[in-house]
Amino acid sequence: MVVTETASRPLGMFDSGVGGLTVARAVIDLLPHEDLVYFGDSARLPYGPREEAEVRKFALEIMDALMQERVKMLVVACNAASSTALDEAEERYDVEIVGVIEPGLRAALAATRNRRIGLLGTEVTVGSGSYNRALEATRTNVALHSVACPRFVEFVERGDTTSAEVIEAAQTYLAPLKAKGVDTVILACTHYPLLAGVIDYVMGEEVVLISSAEATAHEVYRRLMDRRLLNPSNRPGRHRFIASSERGISSELGRRFLGPEFNEVEHRPWDRP
Ligand code: DGL
Repeated sequence: MVVTETASRPLGMFDSGVGGLTVARAVIDLLPHEDLVYFGDSARLPYGPREEAEVRKFALEIMDALMQERVKMLVVACNAASSTALDEAEERYDVEIVGVIEPGLRAALAATRNRRIGLLGTEVTVGSGSYNRALEATRTNVALHSVACPRFVEFVERGDTTSAEVIEAAQTYLAPLKAKGVDTVILACTHYPLLAGVIDYVMGEEVVLISSAEATAHEVYRRLMDRRLLNPSNRPGRHRFIASSERGISSELGRRFLGPEFNEVEHRPWDRP
């Protein structure tokens, strides 16, 4: 494959819903000339309460669909999908693949001062142990305390980041991390950066929050640079947004979370490959 032809192709990115738009936002900021195809699996949201095998199946179906769009890189902008499908995806596709786990973990290891890191994620991400395995592989002496926050995704999908209810939920979820004295918290769900205000409010400003979205965007930048895959064009990137149902990824929510680059959503129900 000729490198420049590959470099001109779009990035493919996906999540169960609007959460991955936090990764898209960070990627667009760092790489404004890259084209992007974003897939939100709103028909099957949320992934968090599902079995690992089911999330893996969904993730591979979406990556198959993105490969048909001839993407040059797959960005798994979802912790649940990264936790369950990354290994298989690496064997199955011959394009660069970037997940959210290692970039987020590396950023947390760089940030912690007291070697106590907290992690907030969905049930499937926490249950999979993916971050613990990634941490073990670094052979670093750091304690990782994980808490599943099943209700956080609903709040984000509703656009609720400030209600008394979301603050109360955050107080409950964060209490064990406060008790452990963590100084760094990984937001291990791409929806959660949208709740950074409430999480910071409850944890206190001395605790560093690590957005897997930003860490992942930096990894995308590094990978495109190192593999000489940056789009050679100087025109602004083109961004396409596809959702698997009309539910859940409205233009209003998309614009609120991604910004003006969020244009109309193509709906692609899941009966096609
Ligand atoms: N945003 C996704 C993640 O990073 C999944 C949220 C969900 O669908 O439960 O894990």
